[in-house]
Amino acid sequence: MVAYRVVISTELPIPPLEMRQLVGQTDVSAFDNSTGALIFDFVDASAFKSVFDFGCGCGRLARQLIQQRPRPERYIGIDLHAGMIRWCQRNLAPAAPAFTFLHHDVYNYHFNPNGVRDQVLPFPAESKSFTLVEAWSVFTHLVEEQALQYLHEVARILAPHGVFHSTWFLFNKFDGFPMMTESQNALYVSHRDPSAAVVYDRSWLRDTVASAGLAIYRVWPVRPAARGFQWHVLMSHADSRDPFDWPEDDRPPGAGWNRPPSLPQEPAHVGLDAD
Ligand SMILES: C[S@@+](CC[C@H](N)C(=O)[O-])C[C@H]1O[C@@H](n2cnc3c(N)ncnc32)[C@H](O)[C@@H]1O
Repeated sequence: MVAYRVVISTELPIPPLEMRQLVGQTDVSAFDNSTGALIFDFVDASAFKSVFDFGCGCGRLARQLIQQRPRPERYIGIDLHAGMIRWCQRNLAPAAPAFTFLHHDVYNYHFNPNGVRDQVLPFPAESKSFTLVEAWSVFTHLVEEQALQYLHEVARILAPHGVFHSTWFLFNKFDGFPMMTESQNALYVSHRDPSAAVVYDRSWLRDTVASAGLAIYRVWPVRPAARGFQWHVLMSHADSRDPFDWPEDDRPPGAGWNRPPSLPQEPAHVGLDAD
């Protein structure tokens, strides 16, 4: 048996376990990029010039981008969890002056219960200003009205040849969901907290994206993971790419394989209690 040793760079702080639990990634290696490689092999290097990270959490991708060579010339990360933004601003931003983390003060049942209940606020960014817009495991937590409006915000801030990478839970409502009406397009796993996990009809996604002026050009499953887990979706402004095909989900079945870690006590207070 070959033993591998994972070397984690300690130049930059790693967020504490309770924050990593909030974003569902407890393994510290998910926060590290000690080789300095481009963090995604599915976009051109030029896409990393300016990065807008919607739902940046506790800086998992930001930390990797700070280690990346070349580093983005500009990065803005926003999140509705005030404690994680505070942690990023205090622990990551000092190492990277071009990186900014901003609290996006919208309501969330667990993470921002005192937030603005309008549910959607504009992105703090100029139109056409970002070459890469990122939303990893964020649209998986947005209700339909939010998803619609934030897709329009993505289209607004995306540079003319920019790339939008996001991940989604997807299903096909035309295959086995005869009770769903034309206007019902999403499945919610919790009635108490609809943002817990949201699964979108893939035709709805394709059409809604088009209504925002975007086009999907590549879809593939997040791995390793069980069937039905998230999909990577790449988009650009409409007309700049070829059409795509929905791939088959060839991942093995497995209930609970990708169950998120339990939330810490009082999740909205994480990162805010100690000064
Ligand atoms: C599963 S975590 C993923 C975090 C990060 N993208 C990553 O990959 O590590 C989802 C994040 O999205 C944030 N989020 C969800 N809805 C949001 C919204 N409407 N505005 C800003 N952040 C949001 C949550 O607070 C949480 O930090």
